[in-house]
Amino acid sequence: MIDPIPIIVALDFSAAAPVWALVERLDPARCRLKVGKELFTRLGPGLVERLQAAGFAVFLDLKFHDIPNTVAAACAAAADLGVWMVNVHVSGGRPMLDAARAALDRYPQRPLLVGVTVLTSLDRTDLAEIGCPGEPEERVLSLARLAQQAGLDGVVCSPREAARLRAELGRDFRLVTPGVRLPDSASDDQKRTLTPAEALAAGADYLVIGRPVTRAPEPLVALEAIERSLTNRLEN
Ligand code: C5P
Repeated sequence: MIDPIPIIVALDFSAAAPVWALVERLDPARCRLKVGKELFTRLGPGLVERLQAAGFAVFLDLKFHDIPNTVAAACAAAADLGVWMVNVHVSGGRPMLDAARAALDRYPQRPLLVGVTVLTSLDRTDLAEIGCPGEPEERVLSLARLAQQAGLDGVVCSPREAARLRAELGRDFRLVTPGVRLPDSASDDQKRTLTPAEALAAGADYLVIGRPVTRAPEPLVALEAIERSLTNRLEN
């Protein structure tokens, strides 16, 4: 079940002009696109529709977290929009996850449903402060198990957690990893990065890549360098 298009480019922009300046140079056969909270709040479903009309599969990264009825309705709205992937916070609880899955099951061609476990911005101290003592990695694993039991298709995780989750959760559970960087690119505010090839080797299915492509002087050249690093991995 290895997807031949593992790269998801994160469109972290605040306006339509830079989105299209980049997207017009990208090939939908070689990458998918992620629309997050900022871009969606500014430009709305119309932008997603236009990206899809240009042939791109869209990961709608809105991380839904609310009562089951509301999250189910939001997931149905994402499915109506025709997105390829949508996500929810696993910490919304089993009834919310079940409702999200049930809402999507009504669609013959439903979006993939993935869960956010522990935000990578939270460390042990932050988790203790919100009443969740213990090691973040153990919490990631237990939330990922819950996501799998509830029938989610996978989770978003740090590439550093991918190997353990892959070993514990089996081959078919999708792992979507941000925080990937080529050895020569800036790590920006990502603290624990792996290279794209390392992330795939650790068991990631999809690599969410933002600034290494979006801020590159030549985004296409940057994307090609990432693709080459993945091909080299398979050949070596
Ligand atoms: O620019 P960069 O490659 O760091 O972008 C990573 C993308 O993945 C951003 O859109 C960011 O919001 C998202 N993300 C992340 N870490 C998470 C979850 C999502 O960096 N834990």
